[in-house]
Parts: sequence; structure tokens; C-alpha cells
Amino acid sequence: MTDQSGNPSEIAANPSKKVYVKTFGCQMNVADTERMLALMGEKGMEPTEVPGDADLIIINGCSVRDKAVHKAVSFLGEQQVLKKKKNPIIALGGCVGQLDKGDVFKRAPYLDFVFGPDAIDQLPELVHKAQSGQKHFVQVEFDKTLSYSTQTKIHGSKAQAFVNIMKGCDKYCTYCIVPFTRGKEKSRTIDEVLEDLAQLVAKGVREVTFLGQNVNSFGKGNKNLKGYLPLELNNIIGKVGPRDGEENFPQLLYAIENDPRFEKLKRIRYTSSHPLDFSDELIECYAPKEKGGIGKLAKHLHLPVQSGSDVVLQKMGRHHKIENYIAQMDRLKELCPEIGFSTDLIVGFPTETEEDFEQTLKLLDRVQYDNIYAFAYSPRPGTRAAKLPDDVPAEVKNRRLNQLLQHQLKIAAVRYASRVGQTMEVLVEGQAKNQNMMTAADRAQETPTALGRVWTGRTSCNRVVNFVDHTQRNYLGALLMVKITGSTSLSLQGELVHQPDFAELKYTSSYSSSEIAQ
Ligand code: SAM
Ligand code: SF4
Ligand code: F3S
Repeated sequence: MTDQSGNPSEIAANPSKKVYVKTFGCQMNVADTERMLALMGEKGMEPTEVPGDADLIIINGCSVRDKAVHKAVSFLGEQQVLKKKKNPIIALGGCVGQLDKGDVFKRAPYLDFVFGPDAIDQLPELVHKAQSGQKHFVQVEFDKTLSYSTQTKIHGSKAQAFVNIMKGCDKYCTYCIVPFTRGKEKSRTIDEVLEDLAQLVAKGVREVTFLGQNVNSFGKGNKNLKGYLPLELNNIIGKVGPRDGEENFPQLLYAIENDPRFEKLKRIRYTSSHPLDFSDELIECYAPKEKGGIGKLAKHLHLPVQSGSDVVLQKMGRHHKIENYIAQMDRLKELCPEIGFSTDLIVGFPTETEEDFEQTLKLLDRVQYDNIYAFAYSPRPGTRAAKLPDDVPAEVKNRRLNQLLQHQLKIAAVRYASRVGQTMEVLVEGQAKNQNMMTAADRAQETPTALGRVWTGRTSCNRVVNFVDHTQRNYLGALLMVKITGSTSLSLQGELVHQPDFAELKYTSSYSSSEIAQ
């Protein structure tokens, strides 16, 4: 059955139907889930948080490490009971779907279909096909077009949005499965991203995170027909990324900074980056606005390094040395002293010695990250590193991982504590899950926090800040000045410096009691 536009209409005829998506993995998958919900929403399906209520269950899986795959597959296993009870359509997607290609049907015959990240826009048709009784089909073809074109879909009103600007990865780090799950690098055009952004800002988005596995190589393959500046990129490590005459990431940033349509857009973030494509021109974007920098650029950078040892970096196929990376970080600190850094690290890569590992610890001391994401090496079938003997025993990997995390917690505790007493601008993301925070006044009077609400948000440098408010106002999406009164190694606590006028608050002026999270 199709509607007048030729699209499947069966779902639209059933507005009471519900979709549940279980998401594993990176922000790319989080954004993909958002897109799936929006696409199914257009067909009349409401999202639900309860798999038992769903008519469609999607598992958006991640294959970056063995454990992640295991989680997706065991979640799939748990759905067998529901299938028998309520017969929802069950689909396996994401990077796990892309690699599996249907092998899983043998183990999970109750699964209806498998699809990859490039088939997300076909989801309504795939669901319709399953509703019409077809089973065990697979849609994992990579999109063959040379360019990448899309429009961001957000579900509901939000102060923040993820925007995919490129997809795929051409880096082929020896340990990594992502180039096999997401295909070749392709970028959207600058013009298309600007149009997309304009509609998001009109909907109330105040902070955007540009997504891609290697955002720094944005523009590769797209001719710079409009003469956006800077025309060429340089890198202290070696010239890579988009070629001269092609579009590039700093051009996109300058185009946004200089366009009055984006006045209300307060912060731009992006992830992820590779040091090899991290151009000198992008580094200069972190200069103060008065000196030609990008004022909207958040004072935070996630620049994965993976290891502090040159020997290991070489075996990982990262193609740069630690001194290059440190030079990039030093220049960034020089241009923007308040900048906060985070990184990804792998411990226990094949042949990693205690000495190599010590160099990673030393790197933490040298760079002074606010936060790290550290992982024990997990061989991924089909990658070059999987051919090397996985010779660091599991207990050594785990010990190094714990040691690394403990080392970082000590660094972060000092860094966070140094913020106490400062007043910082916070973009409010919502009410905190943990409502157990007390203000100084609460503590003095020993009154329970139930009197107020704990709100949570982030500073430009990406630190989480929680504060208590007693006015019942809705601060979602508001940019507020908060005085920092306390810290842990993971977050800051503070107090509102002033009550903004209701007019400054973007969404509803106050919460009804039913809207207040308990
Ligand atoms: N494109 C980003 C980059 O260049 O770092 C993100 C890649 S991946 C989605 C996120 C992180 O997972 C990587 O930075 C790396 O630290 C980790 N990772 C990737 N493959 C891994 C493996 N085989 N074992 C353990 N960790 C891995
Ligand atoms: Fe994986 Fe390396 Fe590409 Fe990041 S840059 S996605 S780690 S291959
Ligand atoms: Fe995982 Fe795929 Fe992201 S493998 S980390 S979900 S790109």
C-alpha cells in the first residue's frame, strides 16, 4: 500500500504504533537514532522508552570493540520473548548490521531484517516490507554517489543538535573497523550545511555539534566554486586533508561566523578529529574573535591521540609523532588559554611495552586533559592489527586501563578545583538525573533539595555544571552565568549569578508540576 506520494502509508494509517530504538556506540549512532525516530515519526510512529510497548524494535549497534558487538547481540537475544508475545518487527542496524550482512538470522530467526548506516533513509520502506510479510532481508549497500547530501532531522525542540557534515573514513588506522562499517569519506557542501543550520537555528537550536569520523577532512572532493576562504590548508605534520581548490572545514566555520542568519547560534562543537588532518588554519580559528578567530567555536577540543609512544603510533598507522601532536596542543593553548582538551586512548595494543605505556601516562601530565576516553585494545576481524599477535594479556590491559583512568582522575580533580570561585557561562541541557544537590542555603538550613530543581549544562570548554534553582522556571536552552562553588573530577557545582528575565528563556516560562522531573 502506498500514499499519493508513492511512500508506504501503512504506518501512517496507524498513528498509535510505537518505535523503540536501542542505541550503542558513538555520537554518530546517537544522531542516526534521532534520524530514525524522526523518519518513523513522519510515518506516524511515536517513540517509546519501553521495548514491550513497541511495534518496531531497532537495535542500532556498534562494532568498534568486541564487547560492544556482544552487547548488541545479547540485547537482540532478549527480544525473542517479546517477539513471541507481541510480534513486533525487529531490525538490526548500525555498524553491527553493516558488518553482519544477515549471518545473524541463523542464530536469531525471529529477527526481521538487517540494515546498515547508509540505508537509514530507506527505513520506512524496509519497515513496510517487513509489515507486508517479507522476512530475513538485508540492506547494507553503501551509497554509491560521490557526494553526500542530507538534511538534519531533529525530534522535538532542542537547544542542541548533532549535524552530520561528512561520513566515512579514509584513514584506516590499523586497529579500527570504522572504515569498513561507514565506507569512504564523503562531505556535504558548505552551502547545504548552511541551509540546514539556518532551519535548525530557526527551530531554537543554540549549540551545534558537527559530526564525522574525521571532521578535519570535511570538503575533500567538493570543488570550492564560491571561493570560500582559506583557500588552502597546511599542517605541521604534512599536507593532507582536502586539496587546494576544494572546500574545507575552516571555510565552513568562517562562513557561519560571518553570516547574520546565525546570530542566535552560540556554540559550535565538532567531533572527531585526526591530528594528521588538523590544519594550522583550523588551529588559528581558536584565536580570540578580535584577532580573527571564530567567536562561536567552543573552547574545547577532542583530539584523539591513541598512545603516547611513537613506536605504538607507528604500528597503529597514525602517521604522526607525539612531538607533532604536542606542538598542535601548545599552539592551541597559546591562542586560547582557557581551552579544555579531551582525547581517546587505547592500551594494550599488540607489542605495547611497560615503557610505551609510561609514555602515555607522561602525555597526560604534559597535555593536562580535562577528560579522556580510554579503551583496552580489542582485535577487530579484517583489520591489519588483527593479523598481529594480541600479545598483551587481558589482566595487563585491564591494569593499564585502570592505572590510566586513575592517573587522569587526579589530573582532572586539580583542574576542576581550580575553577571554584570563577563565574562561567553555562548552556542548560536539562534537569539533572541526580537531583540530590543542595545549595549553600539548603545546607545551612538542612532543608531537602525537593524545594528546588537541579539543572545541568555545559560550559564552552565542555565541563558539566550543575546548579539548584527554586523558581520553577524552565531553563532548557538558556545561557546562564553560574558561579562555581564546588567540584569533583567529573563535574562542577555552582549557583546562578542572576535570575534571567522570563523573556530571556526560550521555551515555556515555567514548568507545570507534571513536567518537573521527579
Ligand atoms: N574517528 C575517531 C578517531 O579518529 O579517533 C573515532 C574513532 S572510534 C569510533 C572511537 C575510539 O575507539 C577510537 O578513537 C579508539 O580510541 C577506539 N577504538 C577504535 N578501535 C578500537 C579497537 N580495536 N580496540 C579498542 N579501542 C578502539
Ligand atoms: Fe578509525 Fe582512525 Fe578513522 Fe578514527 S581516523 S575512525 S580511529 S580509522
Ligand atoms: Fe561504533 Fe560505528 Fe560509531 S563502530 S563507534 S557506532 S562509527
